[in-house]
Amino acid sequence: MSFQNETKISVTLTQNPRPKPADASLSFGKVMTDHMFIMNYTEGKGWHDPRVVPYAPLEMDPATQVLHYGQAVFDGLKAFRGKDGKIRLFRAQRHAERLNKSCKALCIPEMDVDLIRRSFEAIVEADNEWVPHTQGTSLYIRPTVIATDVMLGVHPSHTYTYFVICSPVGAYYKEGVKPVRILVSDNHVRAVQGGLGEAKTAANYAASLSAQQEAQAAGYTQVLWLDGVERKYIDEVGTMNIMMRIGDEVITPPLAGTILDGVTRNSTLQLMRDWGLKVSERRISIDEVMEAGRKGTLLEMWGTGTAAVVSPVGELGYKGEKLIIGNGQTGELTQKLYDAIVAIQYGQSNDAHGWTSEVKVPVSA
Ligand SMILES: Cc1ncc(COP(=O)(O)O)c(C=O)c1O
Repeated sequence: MSFQNETKISVTLTQNPRPKPADASLSFGKVMTDHMFIMNYTEGKGWHDPRVVPYAPLEMDPATQVLHYGQAVFDGLKAFRGKDGKIRLFRAQRHAERLNKSCKALCIPEMDVDLIRRSFEAIVEADNEWVPHTQGTSLYIRPTVIATDVMLGVHPSHTYTYFVICSPVGAYYKEGVKPVRILVSDNHVRAVQGGLGEAKTAANYAASLSAQQEAQAAGYTQVLWLDGVERKYIDEVGTMNIMMRIGDEVITPPLAGTILDGVTRNSTLQLMRDWGLKVSERRISIDEVMEAGRKGTLLEMWGTGTAAVVSPVGELGYKGEKLIIGNGQTGELTQKLYDAIVAIQYGQSNDAHGWTSEVKVPVSA
C-alpha cells in the first residue's frame, strides 16, 4: 500500500462558515457541512493528496466515467455527541474495511484502511461544530469513490476521486421506535449471487427504485427482497438487513454474496450472542416466515441499519396476504437492541467491544 500511518492530511478551513441549522429542524441528508475530504488516484502514482477543503461542487466533464457506467462505491456511518461532550464515531474501522471491499468488487484501487479511518476523523474534526447536540441526532458521514476518467467506453477507470461529505441528521424516531409495513417483492429482485449485492454501489440503489415506488403506492414503507434465483429465500429489507425471532431462535440470512454485510447487523448479532440468545445465520424462506406468522411463533421481525439502528416490522404483505407481527407493536428484543446500541453510540454504557472511537477536537481559544 502506498500510504503509511504518518501520511499527512492537509487542512484548509473555510473562511465563510455557514449558519448551522437548529437540531429540531434536522431531517436526513438535506444539509451539508462546511468542509469535505478529498483524495485522488492516478495510475502509476497511487492515492495522493489527501486533504480537507471547504465544501464545494465537483467540476466534471460530461464524459466522466462514473456518469455513464456507474463505477462508484460509497459507505455511511455516524458521529455522535455524547452528554459528556465527546464526539464518537461508531465502528469506523469496520466501515473503512467495507468501503475497501466495495472498491475491490468494482475494480477500484483499494485505499489504506487506516487512512480511510483518518479521513473520517479529519472531516469530523474540521466540522465538529456541526455534530448536533440533542440525543438521537448525529452527523452522518458519507465516504464515496467515483471513477473520473474522461472517455466513453466500458473499462476500469485509471483515475478516481475519493471524497467524504457530512450531513447533520435529526433523530430517526422522534416519538419512540415505530413499526413499519413491508411488502414482499416477488416481481423485482435486487441482487443475485455473483453480482454486486454485497457491495455498496450506486447500481444497487438504482435497481431498487421501481420496487420501492410500487410498495409505496400500495401503502407500504419498504420492500422485502427475496433471492434473485428462486424468489423464495429472504435477502434483506429496503436498505437494511433483516432479522426475525421465531420461537426461541433469532434468524438472519447469511452473508452469501447477495446482501450487504451490515455493520448494525454485525453489532446486533454480537450483542445477542453476548446475551446468550440462540442466533442463526441461515437461509430462511418466505414460506417459513409466513407459516410461523400464521401459527403465532413469529414473535418479532426487524431491519437493522445505520440510519434507524433497528426498524420493527409490524406488518408483512405477501401475495395478497397480510401478516400482523407482534400486534403491530415494537417487540421486546427489538427495543432492547435499539436501547443497547444507542447507549454505546452516545457513550452512556460500557463499550465492551471497543466499537466507538473518540474524535479529538481542538480546544478553541
Ligand atoms: C442494502 C443495504 N443493506 C443493509 C444496510 C445496513 O448496513 P449498515 O448496518 O452497515 O448501515 C444498508 C445500509 O447501509 C444497505 O444499504
